[in-house]
Amino acid sequence: MVRPRNSTEVGIVLSEAQKHAIAVIPQGGNTGLVGGSVGNDSFQHIIVSTRLLRDPIEFDAATNQLTVSAGWMLSEVQKFAETKGLEYPVDIAARDSATIGGTIATNAGGIHVIAHGMTRAQVVGVEIVVPDGRVLHDISPIAQGFVHGLCDDVVGSEGTLGIITKAQLQLQQPRTAQWTAIVPTDSLDQAVKLSLKLGSDVLASEIMQTQTALHVAQHAGKQAISAEYSWLVLLESDGPLIHLPDDSLVAFSAHDRRELWSYRERHTEYIATKKNVLKFDARVPVSALETFVSEVRQIATHTTGNAKDFVVFGHLLDGNLHLAISNTGDPAELQDEIAALIISHNGSIRAEHGIGQAKSRYVDQGFTSAELVERAKRRDRFDPNRIMNPSIG
Ligand code: MLT
Ligand code: ZN
Repeated sequence: MVRPRNSTEVGIVLSEAQKHAIAVIPQGGNTGLVGGSVGNDSFQHIIVSTRLLRDPIEFDAATNQLTVSAGWMLSEVQKFAETKGLEYPVDIAARDSATIGGTIATNAGGIHVIAHGMTRAQVVGVEIVVPDGRVLHDISPIAQGFVHGLCDDVVGSEGTLGIITKAQLQLQQPRTAQWTAIVPTDSLDQAVKLSLKLGSDVLASEIMQTQTALHVAQHAGKQAISAEYSWLVLLESDGPLIHLPDDSLVAFSAHDRRELWSYRERHTEYIATKKNVLKFDARVPVSALETFVSEVRQIATHTTGNAKDFVVFGHLLDGNLHLAISNTGDPAELQDEIAALIISHNGSIRAEHGIGQAKSRYVDQGFTSAELVERAKRRDRFDPNRIMNPSIG
């Protein structure tokens, strides 16, 4: 692992790697969920950590934009924005250890996508070191954005084009949550209907299974939740409280709201305690969620034999679900079937977590041949010898 301290050092590392034809895997906080920032034994590689790229953050009060080096943590950027009375709205449970560079490379989504969009919507400029060692940037003192299409290409490129060393981010006026609720419901369609009642006041709409939330509660030593309905939808709003079913849990103070969020945010930690889990995240149109989940449940329990403990949770109104299936017969077969289902619903296999190594065999699926040609051109523009994160395909 190499730990450069600035863009020039990143350039030296990349041009040496290029010279010796050694693959490079960029790594931020190593919180990715699809193996996109770690190596494997099948090829010679170096990992380039961006954690030491930490020039002081610069803030432009005229545009409410900041310029930040890749190694700052997401939560540090959020806190910096707060000191300016503003908000950096991308938020994920790994906020304290995910680097801002990593969230840009993966186009991180998270719990506020429905209100503010994914990372792509916040990035107005980037600096990237490309594999021949050149430092390219379109960071400007005033918001120009998307000069030469650099941002478009780089956000979500998962380390395949070069190493993001800096970014210019647009901060937002803060939207302050007024209430958070966990509402029991008996179907995904019901949960969607209820979420839509919040209209433009919606800050978050997250879904979990009651059964899993009970396991999470037990794992985290939290109070159990009423188990009458199969689903729980977590809603957050910056508007007035709407009418909710009687058995909803509603929180107003920051402390109580965090308590409710932890049922949802501690899912990943709970799942990590289980063995032989196949994880897959998927985005499908919201109208197809109910059907998609019952189809996946069916193939998980029948087609592959002995699948147990089917867990599904995620970002409801984005249509982005996280599936975790324990004790599968043949995980590869099940993965292929889930991927085919996603495509059949016109969904996205890349979804929130990206391709990484876990989904690399589907990297071309869902794209037209013209789009694949475009992608290859983009790679050729930056990385003709394909030294950058080659396991992503
Ligand atoms: C989350 O939304 O909590 C993470 O993206 C999901 C995961 O751990 O699969
Ligand atoms: Zn997620």
